[in-house]
Amino acid sequence: MSHLKITGGTPLNGAVEAAGSKNASLPIMAASILATAPVRLRHVPQVEDVRTLSMVLAELGLDVSRCEDGDLLLRTVDQRPVRARYELVRRMRASFCVLGPLLARRARAVVALPGGCNIGDRPVDVHLRGLAALGARLKLQHGYIVAEADRLHAAEIDLSGPRGPTVTGTANVLSAAVLAEGTTVISAAATEPEIVDLGRFLVKLGAQIEGLGTPVICVTGVEQLDGAEHCVIPDRIEAATLLLAAAITGGSVTVRAVVPEDIAEVLKKLGEAGFAVEKGPDWVSITSPGPPLPIDIVAEPYPGIPTDLQSQWTALLCLGRGRSTVEDRVFPNRFMHLAELNRLGASIQRRNGVAVIDGVDELTAAAAAAPDLRAAAALVIAALAAKGQTVVRQCHHLDRGYERLDEKLNRLGATIERCER
Ligand code: EPU
Repeated sequence: MSHLKITGGTPLNGAVEAAGSKNASLPIMAASILATAPVRLRHVPQVEDVRTLSMVLAELGLDVSRCEDGDLLLRTVDQRPVRARYELVRRMRASFCVLGPLLARRARAVVALPGGCNIGDRPVDVHLRGLAALGARLKLQHGYIVAEADRLHAAEIDLSGPRGPTVTGTANVLSAAVLAEGTTVISAAATEPEIVDLGRFLVKLGAQIEGLGTPVICVTGVEQLDGAEHCVIPDRIEAATLLLAAAITGGSVTVRAVVPEDIAEVLKKLGEAGFAVEKGPDWVSITSPGPPLPIDIVAEPYPGIPTDLQSQWTALLCLGRGRSTVEDRVFPNRFMHLAELNRLGASIQRRNGVAVIDGVDELTAAAAAAPDLRAAAALVIAALAAKGQTVVRQCHHLDRGYERLDEKLNRLGATIERCER
């Protein structure tokens, strides 16, 4: 299992390009099940989660391959398989996104119910409620959701969950509704850019969708969808992670190939924390005048600060000039990184579910273990500023969602050695 040896203390400088979005690629790949002709996707990142979903899709009768230019080709060669097995769904919950497309296109789906997860409870009840409203007959059998429907029919579906909209739940219901008879109205839909990108892809396949990017999406079902070529949006989480890494090291970095509006709230907060941020149509640059000013971060659904950046913000604010707080309203228990950051000399306590961070003058190197994907990124960020050599173990978490983050950071002046063991 690989780990990273990170020697901290060098300011990051230079320019770097963001990869394509992982969380847009995954539901789009799953929705390729709906296509009756080949799909060609550009900018799908080379990350472990994409490889896992490729395996799931291969077992579902899709031919999935990377072209020499990096494009991902997906083509259905066998319509019969409908089972996504637990061993793969367990590895990556987003595999559950095949449920809606399978049901709509193949009239049956047998998909493992994802189990627990390191970032907290992650039920799928809202996904199931939405699909049931479209006419799916659902039952749980031996840990698998068995879903059947001859032809889905339109419905008015409210996707609100206890913590706001559900991102992959919206993906599942939207990807099923495109083939349902009649006009479906989805309210309390997720407005995340990744869902908008999925919608744009579905429209290219021939779907009729209105209201993307708003909480109410109207979908008029069509008989059949075609193939399409699509370029996946830039990864806003990776882009912001790079900016936060630059900020903690006191560096000056430009991230190219981004959509600045998609991280507007992040840029605003960086400004509040005292960093100089500039942006153009597809780039953002940050210059760091010194340690951050203390600020309060609340992770919320889009357009708020993404929960997927909550741990990276926490890492940055460990060096704040005073007391900061971080709250996560999407995954309130996504705080496994706190104890690891404290091992590096941070001073964080959890009070009433909120991380209270008393800024320290410096972090010091230590051995740390990444408990999940974004927590891994937070540890890398902290290690870039820590004195000495930090060893971040369990880096397979990082590789699930970041395309060679260590190499990108090294190109900006970091000293990170990857050790396979
Ligand atoms: N929820 C329910 N019932 C449901 C579905 C969700 O109660 O049926 C709750 C969740 O427990 C959570 C909230 O609703 O409290 C929002 O969860 P959501 O369903 O939006 O999360 P997700 O779709 O499972 C996606 C991303 C996550 C990201 C969240 C929130 C993908 C593949 N995953 O997960 O990404 O944190 O949205 O933005 O898009 C990551 O990339 O590290 C990651 C975890």
